[in-house]
Amino acid sequence: MNVNRRQLMTGTIGAAAVAMVASACASEDGGGEGGGGKVGIAMPTKTSERWILDGDNLKTSFEDAGYEVSLQYANDVAADQVSQIETMVGQNVDVLVIAAIDNKSLSGVLAQAKSQDITVIAYDRLILDTPDVDYYASFDNTKVGTLQGTYLVEALDLANQAGPFNIELFAGALTDNNTKYFFDGAWAVLEPFVTEGKLVVKSGQTTLEQIATENWDGAVAQERMDNILSNFYNDGSVVDAVLAPYDGISRGIIASLQGNGYTTMPFITGQDAEVESVKYIIEGLQSMTVYKDTRELAATTVDMVVAVLDGKDPEINDDTTYDNGNKVVPAYLLEPVSVDVNNYQEVVVDSGYIAEEDLA
Ligand code: GAL
Repeated sequence: MNVNRRQLMTGTIGAAAVAMVASACASEDGGGEGGGGKVGIAMPTKTSERWILDGDNLKTSFEDAGYEVSLQYANDVAADQVSQIETMVGQNVDVLVIAAIDNKSLSGVLAQAKSQDITVIAYDRLILDTPDVDYYASFDNTKVGTLQGTYLVEALDLANQAGPFNIELFAGALTDNNTKYFFDGAWAVLEPFVTEGKLVVKSGQTTLEQIATENWDGAVAQERMDNILSNFYNDGSVVDAVLAPYDGISRGIIASLQGNGYTTMPFITGQDAEVESVKYIIEGLQSMTVYKDTRELAATTVDMVVAVLDGKDPEINDDTTYDNGNKVVPAYLLEPVSVDVNNYQEVVVDSGYIAEEDLA
C-alpha cells in the first residue's frame, strides 16, 4: 500500500474515531461545537493555484473528520497573517496549521498560542526561531531541487556534451525556508558543471540573495529576466537553460523570453504542477515541473492533528533535517515527483490531480 492510500485511510479512520469521542464529550458537557474541535488554517496567498488547493483540501478533510475550520489567506502580507493567527488564538482553536509567509515573523503569536496549549503544525514551510512549533508536514524539499537540477543536466546531456551552455538561476522568496532547500538541492547537481565550464552563468548571479524572487512573484522574475537578457545577452548569445523553482516564476521567465523574441524556449524547470504550467509543458514552453500532491499533504496533516488530539505521537519520518534555529522539528516528508511531457498524463491526470478537460 502506498503512503498516499495509507495516509488517507488512517487519517479518515482516526479522525472519525476522535470526532466520535469528542462529540460525546461535548454533549456530556452540554455544549461544544460538535466534531473533533477547532482548527485554524493560515494560508499565504490565493494568487497561486496550489495554496487554493491546499486550503480546500485541508478544509474539506478536517470538516469531513468532524472538525470546525477557520481558513484564512493573507495575500502574501506577513503582518496580516500574524493578525489572522492572533484572531484564531482568540477563538480558542485547538490546532493551528500554518503555511508561513515570513518564516521569522511568528514567534510572538506562537508564544501566545503555546500559552493556551494550542498545537502548532508548520505546513509545507518551516517556521523558524521559535520553540513553539510542534510538527512539520512537507515534502522532501532538497529533493525538489535535486529533481530540477538533474532534469537540466539530463536535458542538456551534460554527461556527453562539452557545451558550454548558458544557464540562469532563479530562487524563491528569502522569507520562505524552503527557498534555500530547493536551491541547495539543485545547485549541488549543477555547480560541478559550472566549475567544469560546461555550464556558464553569464549574469554571474549565483548567490541566493542575487537570484531570490520576492513573494515568489512571477512579475518580479519576469523583470529580472528582462534585465538579464538586456545586460548579458545583447551580443547574440542565447539562454540554454533556466533553473526556476516554481511554476509562477517559470511562466514569468517564459513571458520575458517571449517578449525578447525567443521562439524556441530554453529548458526551464518549475514546481507545483499548476494547470497553466502543465499546459505550457504540453505546448513545449516549459520543460518540467515538480509535482507535490497537496491531497497527500492534507491527509498527512489531518493524521498528525488526529494523533495529537488523541494524546498520541503522530507518525513522523524525519527527526534530523529540519532545525528551525531553536530545535529540530519532527517532520513527515512526502516524495516529490518530476513531471514532463512524457509522464504528465500518468502522474497528474490519471491520478485525478488535474482534470483532462482543464488541459484542453
Ligand atoms: C513554497 C512551496 C512551493 C511553491 C512556493 C510558491 O513554499 O513549497 O511548492 O508553492 O512556495 O508558492
